[in-house]
Amino acid sequence: MEVIIRPNEDAASLLVARIIARELRARPQLVLGLATGRTMERVYGHLVRMHRDEGLDFSLCRTFNLDEYIGLAPDDPRSYRHYMNHHLFDRVNIDRRNTHLPNGLAADLGAECRHYEDLIRDCGGIDLQLLGIGRSGHIGFNEPLSALRSRTRDKALTPETIAQNAPMFGGDAASVPRRAMTMGVGTILESGRCLVLATGLEKAAIVAQAVEGPITSSITASALQLHPRCTVVVDEAAATGLKGTDYYRWIFENEPEWAEFRR
Ligand code: F6R
Repeated sequence: MEVIIRPNEDAASLLVARIIARELRARPQLVLGLATGRTMERVYGHLVRMHRDEGLDFSLCRTFNLDEYIGLAPDDPRSYRHYMNHHLFDRVNIDRRNTHLPNGLAADLGAECRHYEDLIRDCGGIDLQLLGIGRSGHIGFNEPLSALRSRTRDKALTPETIAQNAPMFGGDAASVPRRAMTMGVGTILESGRCLVLATGLEKAAIVAQAVEGPITSSITASALQLHPRCTVVVDEAAATGLKGTDYYRWIFENEPEWAEFRR
C-alpha cells in the first residue's frame, strides 16, 4: 500500500483522475471498476474535462460499478446507474453496452450477483478499481463484519451508512434503501490495482484505522493492506489521523513512478 497526500480535495481528485487517465491511455480496453458517492464527483469531473480537452478516449473501455441499491430502477435519479450516467457516461465517448452495474430490480438477487461475477470474469477481471471509504470503514457496501473473502451479494446497510447517504435522498434517511448489492471484499481484492480516494476531516479517523490499523472485517477497507498494488490518495484534512505522513511524502517526492504526477 502507498499513501499520497495532496494539499486539498481538488488536487487529490485530480491526481486520481490522472492515474486513471494514464492507465486508460496505456490500455484503451481497460476494465475499470468504478465507485459512486460525493467524493467521486470531482474525479469524474476531471475525467470529463480530460475527454473534452485532451481527447481521453473511453470508446473501448469496460466498466463495472461496485454497487447498486436494491429496489431502485436504473432511471431513478437516486440510483447509482443514474449517478454514473449523469456524472460520467453521458459526458464521455463510452459505449453504454460496456458499462455494468448490478440490477437493483432483479427478481432473483442471488442469480444477479452470480451473473455480475461471471461478467467480470468474462472480461478478464478488473484492471483498476476505484474506491471510496465510507464512515463505517466500508469499501463498496461491505459493511463491518463482511467476510474478507466475500463475493458480490446483497447486503444490509448500517444505520451509519444510511445516515451518510441520506443527503442523496433529500436528507430523508427513511427513504434510503435498506439493502444494496455490492462486489465483495474478495472480488475487490482480485482487481489488478486498487485506487482509493478519501477527502475531508470526517474521513480522517477511518482512513487512519484502515491504513495503519490492524486488518479487520470491522473495517473492510483495512483488507486493502493485503492488496499487492493499492494506492490511497488523501487530502491534508483526511491525512490528519495518519502517523507515517513524513514517510508517505518522502516516497511521493522520490519514487520515479510518481515523477510525472509531481508536476
Ligand atoms: C459507492 C461506494 C461507497 C462510497 C463510500 C464513500 O459506490 O462504493 O463505498 O465510496 O461510501 O462515499 P462518499 O464519497 O459519499 O463519502
